[in-house]
Amino acid sequence: MTVELRSDNAAAVSPAILEAMAAVNSGSALAYGGDEVTAALQDRVREVFEHPSARVFPVLSGTAANALSLSAMTPPWGSVVCHETAHIMGSEGGATSFLSGGAVMTGIAGDDYKMAPEALQAHLDGVRWGDPHHSQPAVLSLTSPSDYGTVYSVAEIAELTAIAKTRDLRVHLDGARFANAVVATGATPADLSWRAGVDVLSLGATKNGALSAEAIVCFTDAPADELVYRTKRSGHVTSKMRYQSAQLLAYLTDGLWLRNARNANERMAELAAGLRAAGVRITNSVDANLAWVDLPEETADRLEAAGVLFHTLDGQVRFVTSWQTTAEEIRTVLGLLAPDQS
Ligand SMILES: Cc1ncc(COP(=O)(O)O)c(C=O)c1O
Repeated sequence: MTVELRSDNAAAVSPAILEAMAAVNSGSALAYGGDEVTAALQDRVREVFEHPSARVFPVLSGTAANALSLSAMTPPWGSVVCHETAHIMGSEGGATSFLSGGAVMTGIAGDDYKMAPEALQAHLDGVRWGDPHHSQPAVLSLTSPSDYGTVYSVAEIAELTAIAKTRDLRVHLDGARFANAVVATGATPADLSWRAGVDVLSLGATKNGALSAEAIVCFTDAPADELVYRTKRSGHVTSKMRYQSAQLLAYLTDGLWLRNARNANERMAELAAGLRAAGVRITNSVDANLAWVDLPEETADRLEAAGVLFHTLDGQVRFVTSWQTTAEEIRTVLGLLAPDQS
């Protein structure tokens, strides 16, 4: 037996997404996004986000979605203001600095791995605006769910974006797990993004059932106008884009993205409840599909020996559920928490 709880990246591809790729695999189609599937994806994104002029750019990874988005929103001398634990700052090898020609990331504090509005305000108040010795804040980048599985409410996003906009910052949302945030909050995709002040969204799909497709969704035109060129220069205007677009289109069709995310969130809620009932301390607020846990070494060893796969990072055990995790798998893991009494 193995139970996969290392990462949602370790999960397989949703059958509906593979079927959608097979369905476009006949005949020929115009290359580089000039095909009908990519056009249909554009329409679907506008429908799902209730935004008649949203523009979508399929890319190959979450890192590319973030770094390309941000490079189109900041000058090289700008700074991207993010939470101090943000993936863009600590886990993307400096991709944003590379693609933007040198912009830096500035980490802001806040509980629950979410930026505190007063900390953002204090940072912006302390900047030497117009001083070329100082990076000039150009973008607010939020991550929801965060790498620690915590989710911003619509009101929390709106409060932060309102502060950012008093200084004309643009707003980016790293939504590598955006579907999990939509399910967790019960908000509409529009309320959780552009209606709360988000200009550009990195819309993840790969962790939640796609094969190699993420989307940059622009709700304002200026970054989109740049992305036309930046996606090409960085090698993300793929010649057979129809296969990526088919994945994203299937993902956003008939609620597949939300069904997959709901499964991941629900399985995690079951796991977290069982861990708490067994007296195990969870260190994050479990809003989505990730739990960070102080797991006694003996318990960790027992789980590992039984085939439960998980990562130990920064001294904590991290469990991640996915669209594929079953209730039975969670019951199996919970059954292993208490030593056999027989
Ligand atoms: C919050 C967040 N953003 C972005 C990424 C980057 O995605 P990718 O690994 O596809 O580059 C990840 C991946 O783990 C992530 O967790």
